Amino acid sequence: MTLSGRRILLVIGGGIAAYKSLDLIRRLRERGAGVRCILTAGAQRFVTPLAAAALSGDRAHTDLFDRETEAEIGHIRLARDADMVVVAPATANLLAKMAAGLADDLASTVLLATTLPILVAPAMNVRMWQHAATRRNMATLLADGIRTAGPNDGAMAEAEWGPGRMAEPTEIADAVEGLLGAGQEGGRAALAGRHVLVTSGPTHEPLDPVRYLANRSSGRQGHAIAAAAAAAGARVTLVSGPVALPDPPGVAVLRVETGREMLAAVEAALPADIAVFAAAVADWRAAGAAAQKIKKDGAEPPPLRLALNPDILATVAGRTESRPAVVVGFAAETEHVVAHARTKLARKGCDLIVANDVSPETGIMGGARNAVHLVTAETVEDWPDLPKEEVARRLVARCAEMLAGR
Ligand code: C5P
Repeated sequence: MTLSGRRILLVIGGGIAAYKSLDLIRRLRERGAGVRCILTAGAQRFVTPLAAAALSGDRAHTDLFDRETEAEIGHIRLARDADMVVVAPATANLLAKMAAGLADDLASTVLLATTLPILVAPAMNVRMWQHAATRRNMATLLADGIRTAGPNDGAMAEAEWGPGRMAEPTEIADAVEGLLGAGQEGGRAALAGRHVLVTSGPTHEPLDPVRYLANRSSGRQGHAIAAAAAAAGARVTLVSGPVALPDPPGVAVLRVETGREMLAAVEAALPADIAVFAAAVADWRAAGAAAQKIKKDGAEPPPLRLALNPDILATVAGRTESRPAVVVGFAAETEHVVAHARTKLARKGCDLIVANDVSPETGIMGGARNAVHLVTAETVEDWPDLPKEEVARRLVARCAEMLAGR
């Protein structure tokens, strides 16, 4: 009962995913939470207030101007009487209203009136999700401190495929736990109120409009770290290169392609309390990527001239202003793992290096497990071979300890 005694106000928006919100009510109650629902007019076209009321064990609220419910529990009390607000499904329209601060029905009025943490689970058609207007609205909401769960990639109701599917009820319930710091020691999240910045994945460095240099990083370890930090109660910004992974629940994800874009996104996301650089940033990019596709006409292959990419970790660790209190780097090596990590620690100016052997025979690159050594200026700690999620949990706990000791 990880959410025992917690009260969730669930705003159900008008999308086909609303049926999954009925299951979300059950998943939250299963974990001990009390759930009170607000349904928009659109939501009521998909699910009934009666179903929400029956599953939540409380009356469902629908109307701003209903005299009876306003007298019994006004919209301002609805906005206050909970530990957090979950909006699921968060339709494009509801997100737009939230971003603009519109209050023209009960749901949007409560969302404007509340000072509680808000988690949104977006769900919409892929084209609506990718529309510039929705992207602008999401950027505004994230800057306002609103958390997100999903959306996931997958099949959509309209026989299309792509990002826009609402996160699964268990993923949303996990994000709620993360936000409320449930299941943590003493019921308090180790990183509540903290901002954690994580980089993950490879970068793609263009040679011309169709070709790029890349590496084999899957982003699994970095994404797991972002998820673990969110589960520890932190506000998390994940700056990710191109990966084939779903967004971790409750994490703000900024997608980039190149190392230079990653540096810009990281600097824009500062300040942070903890920064973990798990991305495999390309060390080099093509010097002067061609504006047009390089043709195969000549007898000689074209020369490949490279330029050094900015070192994001070293740049951030070397900052005099808004340097995160804890800066962690990774060192993927194929030999002399610990010795190389030591040198890297000093050269990059970070507080901790997570070193691992990525020789092909270890299967770590792209695999589900990782065997790491934690290297500081004074110590080396060898961790056993663990699932990447467990490495992430332990690493986040270690960063929280380091932060507390500052
Ligand atoms: O120098 P090397 O690439 O081995 O260093 C690895 C560490 O530095 C990782 O933490 C990686 O995320 C970070 N890095 C970076 N920017 C670069 C190269 C590496 O942040 N351009």
